[in-house]
Formats: sequence, C-alpha cells, structure tokens
Amino acid sequence: SIKACLFDLDGVLVDTAKYHYLAWKRLAEELGFDFTEHDNERLKGVSRMASLDILLSIGGIELDESKKQELAERKNDWYFEMISKMDESEILPGALEFLKECRENGLKVALGSASKNAMTILNNTGITPYFDAIIDGTRTTSAKPDPEVFTLGATEVGVSPEQCVVFEDAEAGVEAARRAGMHCVGIGSPENLAKADFVVSSLADMTVSRLNDIVVS
Ligand code: BG6
Ligand code: MG
Repeated sequence: SIKACLFDLDGVLVDTAKYHYLAWKRLAEELGFDFTEHDNERLKGVSRMASLDILLSIGGIELDESKKQELAERKNDWYFEMISKMDESEILPGALEFLKECRENGLKVALGSASKNAMTILNNTGITPYFDAIIDGTRTTSAKPDPEVFTLGATEVGVSPEQCVVFEDAEAGVEAARRAGMHCVGIGSPENLAKADFVVSSLADMTVSRLNDIVVS
C-alpha cells in the first residue's frame, strides 16, 4: 500500500505557472521576440537555467554564460515580486483538502520541486506545516527528469520507492517519478502526461481511497 505522497509544487499545489510565463514573456519581449503560452509548455518542470536556454533558442539568440546569469536573475526578480504577493487563495482546487487527508491517513508528505523559490511560495500560501520533508531546487544537483528530487524525498521520509506516489503536471516530472521507481499521478491533460499511471485534471478529483484503488489495480 501507499505510505508517502510526493508533490511537485508549481502547477500541482499552486498556480505559479502563470507568473513564470509572465516573467519569461517579459524577458523575451525585452530581447525582441514573442513568447507564446504554447512555447511556455516546454518550460514546465524545467530548471531556471535550462528554461532560459530553451527561451533563447526560440528567439534564435546565443549569449555567453555571464550574460545568461544576468538574464536569469532579472527574470527571477520579476517572478519573485509576483510570488511575494501570493496568499492561500492561490492554492489550486482540492490541494489543501488532499494534503490534509494524506496526513489524517498517516501518509508521509514530501515536496519535490525544481524551484529555488519553493520556501517563499509554501510560506506565503501557508502550506509549509503539511510537509514532512521539503526537497527543492536549493537541495538538488540534477534536474528532472533525473529522479534525484523524489529519491531524496522518499529517503527523508523513510519510505521505499514502490510505496510512494508522485503528483506531477510536467512530462519531465512524470519521467523522474518513473526513473525513481515510484507510482505517478499526472495532474492536467492525458496528452501531455501519457507516462503517468493515471491522470486527473486537478487534486480536487483525488482522495486517499481513490489513490489506493489506482495503485493496487
Ligand atoms: C519548476 C517550474 O517547478 O521550477 C519551472 O515548473 C521553473 O517553470 C523551475 O523554471 C525552477 O524554478 P525557480 O523558481 O527556481 O526559477
Ligand atoms: Mg510543475
């Protein structure tokens, strides 16, 4: 049976994808090209510097490392300004209820996020106390689809991979869960998340008993 739930943050628990998008779009516009929501799909779950590389390739721009650092920092300043104003109203539908239900049922709860801003978001939305372990972009060396972020989370809560379920909205994250040997529930639309065991449109469709049905069957 399932003993731990590992959650991605952006796009699973909170609606921060729109802020990432706005900040990257602003950067693209400063660099003189357009960046669409369709383009933005490619950045989901991807680390900050890897996202910048994708953005620059879309714009057909090549820059040296120090200039790239500077642009990534500028994007993050805009992004940080937006997430600084977040509150609990930006927790995605069903997320808080499901976190509570996990804890009431004795499941361990861990965060597995690529973001270096995770603590700001967790604190501003008030959900930090729900986690037994928080693994974010400040604690990992390899980005998703590398399984590191989830493997570390499982180790920290003391649960073996096959008793863990990962909740992910990004293809790279689903792949990371697979490589970690964990179950995976996709959040979003089945087209993008074909490798997940199961896909729901949001955590509002998830309950602990449903989770056990999915995983056991
Ligand atoms: C992921 C997001 O959770 O974190 C990506 O899906 C983002 O869009 C990545 O680039 C890194 O986040 P941050 O906050 O460290 O720039
Ligand atoms: Mg995500």
